[in-house]
Amino acid sequence: WEDAFLGDGVTEILRHNISFFLENRAFFQEHGIPCKRGILFHGPPGNGKTLAGKILACQSGINFIWATSKHIFWLEHNCRSDAFAAVYELARRISPCIVFLEDIDLLVGEERTDSKARLGAFLNELDGFENNKHVITIATTNFPEVLDKAISERPGRFDVKVRFDNPDHATRLGILKMYGKSLEFEQDADLEEIADAANGLSCAAVREVVTRAFIKASERVFRDKTGGKIAILREDLLGSVSFLSNGKVKMGFEADKTVASVPPSKIGGQAQ
Ligand SMILES: Nc1ncnc2c1ncn2[C@@H]1O[C@H](COP(=O)(O)OP(=O)(O)O)[C@@H](O)[C@H]1O
Ligand SMILES: [Mg+2]
Repeated sequence: WEDAFLGDGVTEILRHNISFFLENRAFFQEHGIPCKRGILFHGPPGNGKTLAGKILACQSGINFIWATSKHIFWLEHNCRSDAFAAVYELARRISPCIVFLEDIDLLVGEERTDSKARLGAFLNELDGFENNKHVITIATTNFPEVLDKAISERPGRFDVKVRFDNPDHATRLGILKMYGKSLEFEQDADLEEIADAANGLSCAAVREVVTRAFIKASERVFRDKTGGKIAILREDLLGSVSFLSNGKVKMGFEADKTVASVPPSKIGGQAQ
C-alpha cells in the first residue's frame, strides 16, 4: 500500500468492506447482513484501479480471481458460453474470495452488441445465489456512464462505489518524489513546480513525467559522451509535462520526437 497514493478515503473504504467485513463475517451473518459485497472502482484511466487490485491480490490474504474481458471471452469461446457462471462457481468453491473484474464496460457496456445476454448472466451470478457467501466482487471501469443501470444503480449489487480521481497537488508531488527517489535532479528542478505544472494529469502520467525526463537526461549524457552522472534538469521535466498534457500520447497519433529511445544496456552505464 505504501507505493500507492490512494488517499485515506479509498483505503478506509476498502478496509471496511473487505478486511473488516471478512474478518467479522460470522458476526455479520448472525445479524442477517448479506454475506457478499459488490464494489465498483471507477474514474479516469491511470489512477490506480488496477494497482489497487494487484495490491489486494497480494495483501488481502484471501483467494483472488482476476478476470479481464480477455479471460471471459476466452472462456466463452473455448470452454463455456456461460463464462460468468464458471467464474462464480469457482469463487463459491474457494470462498472467502475476491472476484476482480477488470474493465467491466468492455464486457457489459451498453455499446457492445453482445452485452445483453452476458449482462443477464452476470446479474444472475451476482444476486441469484444465496450461497455467494463471502464472495466480494470488485469491478473496475473508466466509463461508469456506459454501464447498464442494473449494474451501477440497483441496490444490493454494487453498493460501494470508489472513485479514483486524477491526483491533487500533494499526490502529484508524492508520486514525483516516489518514482524519482533513486534518481538525481539538478538544483533548478523544483518538484513543487513540476507538481503544479502537472495539474490535470493522471497518476500514471505523472509517473511517466519522471520516466521521460530520465530518458531525456540519459540521452544527453550518452550523446555528449561526458560520462558524467545522469542528472534530470527542470527543462526535462517541464518538457515531459508539456508533452503528456497535450494528449498526443493518449491519442497515439504522433510519434514522440523529443525523446530518442536509449538502449536498455546503456541505462545506468557509462557513455563510451
Ligand atoms: N494512485 C497511484 N499511486 C501510485 N502510482 C499509480 C497510481 N495510479 C496509477 N499509478 C501508476 O500508473 C500505473 C497504471 O495505473 P492503473 O492502476 O493501471 O490505472 P487504472 O486501472 O486506474 O487505469 C500503475 O501501475 C502505477 O505505476
Ligand atoms: Mg485498469
